[in-house]
Amino acid sequence: MNLEFSPAQMRAMTDAVTSRCIAHVASLPEQPICGDVEAADLCRALRESAPEQASALDPLLDLLFDTCIPRSFNAAGPGYLAFVPGGGVFPAALADFIADTVNPFTGVWQAAPALVQLEANALDWLRDWMGFPDTTRGLFTTGGSMATFNGLLCARERLLGADIRRGVLYTSDQAHHCVIKSAKLAGIMPDRVHAVPCDEHYRMPVAALRAAIHADRALGLTPFAVVSSAGTTNTGAVDPLDAIADLCAAEGLWHHVDGAYGAFFMLCPETAETLRGLSRADSLTLDPHKGMFLPYGTGALLVRDGSALRAAHEATADYLPAMPHPEDFYDPSQHGPDLSRGFPGLRVWLTVKLYGAAAFRAAVSEKRALAVQAATRISALPGIVIDAPPELSLFAFHVSWPGATLVDEDTATRALMARTSARGRVMITGAVARGRYVGRVCVLSFRTHQAEIDALLHDMTAALHEIRPARS
Ligand SMILES: Cc1ncc(COP(=O)(O)O)c(C=O)c1O
Repeated sequence: MNLEFSPAQMRAMTDAVTSRCIAHVASLPEQPICGDVEAADLCRALRESAPEQASALDPLLDLLFDTCIPRSFNAAGPGYLAFVPGGGVFPAALADFIADTVNPFTGVWQAAPALVQLEANALDWLRDWMGFPDTTRGLFTTGGSMATFNGLLCARERLLGADIRRGVLYTSDQAHHCVIKSAKLAGIMPDRVHAVPCDEHYRMPVAALRAAIHADRALGLTPFAVVSSAGTTNTGAVDPLDAIADLCAAEGLWHHVDGAYGAFFMLCPETAETLRGLSRADSLTLDPHKGMFLPYGTGALLVRDGSALRAAHEATADYLPAMPHPEDFYDPSQHGPDLSRGFPGLRVWLTVKLYGAAAFRAAVSEKRALAVQAATRISALPGIVIDAPPELSLFAFHVSWPGATLVDEDTATRALMARTSARGRVMITGAVARGRYVGRVCVLSFRTHQAEIDALLHDMTAALHEIRPARS
């Protein structure tokens, strides 16, 4: 059976796919931002056993583009201000196409040394942008969760050795839930993850963290790592990274910073100060599929002492070639759990080469400026209280009026978020933080510009009017 297509067939299929993709991108601003996700019946109808016979491509593209894709959040759309927006810049799609058709083996350096060097370059660019030293080694992962897992693995190996069970990890009660999942994957059970209650700014209080470390030591446990947040998902809070770095240095603990949402704000001078101390982390989670606007599936980890990352993953096999210059060249499978892998670095490399770093700095600055402007305008709407101003590009707020109970305010804030999103131009979501439901806006899509902020204000103002009778 010959599974190869002829050059003419490949060209025709590629043309069919790219013309659908380009039409999709061109129509993103007109597409409803929330999609029609009430699709349980459709999902049941889609179930089928593996087809025995071949299909033509066009009906499959029809199914994807006309039926399935519209029943999704329009996360690539310009009005997506929900959760933490992703990206989907076009150069990354080109990189994936090249990587998937060429299909190089990038697990070991010898198999594709020049290509792996491009991936190493991309990791070095991240290192430089984050202010990490030359000793740093990194790893591209599928996302922030797997980056955090690999960072915690390094911390555990370095500080606990084989004595895992007594080790305690500290984070705040605002940390992303990937911390507890990652800890479990790294052998640190949930009862050894100490969540320090946040302060009124949703940040981890250093005094309470210090007290928790000392109390656990007195119980005979072994504090070994702190995970702080460079931008929480709930409210965008940035923990006091510099002070936590000082505490970790004094206590001999590993400091991992979760920069999945916020680390790329290191690129702009106006937010670099908020992130002071990030460059001192022992390890850092990055999500290029957020702050670099790449498509989902691109996370990254930086480890300040690269030998810790290598020690956590180094392994060889009799059938593999020996790495000739481990200090000089980067070997992905010696720095991460995967042997056979795709070529994640190509997305980052091609995208940065095609745009240039200056374009990223400008885009990140623009998102920050739009968020500041949106927060200022929303704070002026009647009955809106800002709970967390934008430290980076995410802020949180709730609806309030005299005599309202917390339950009234939560109900009204939920209604405001739902009704604003229902208008179909922007999508916003809330979160529960410190016992209150807060509305939130996160500006991070590369497609979000002034027009979407104006639409947000217009639709939120109209939604506020709609819920007013319920409030009075
Ligand atoms: C602050 C923060 N940390 C970690 C994660 C997890 O990253 P990922 O979804 O890429 O695994 C996210 C978002 O999803 C996040 O917002």
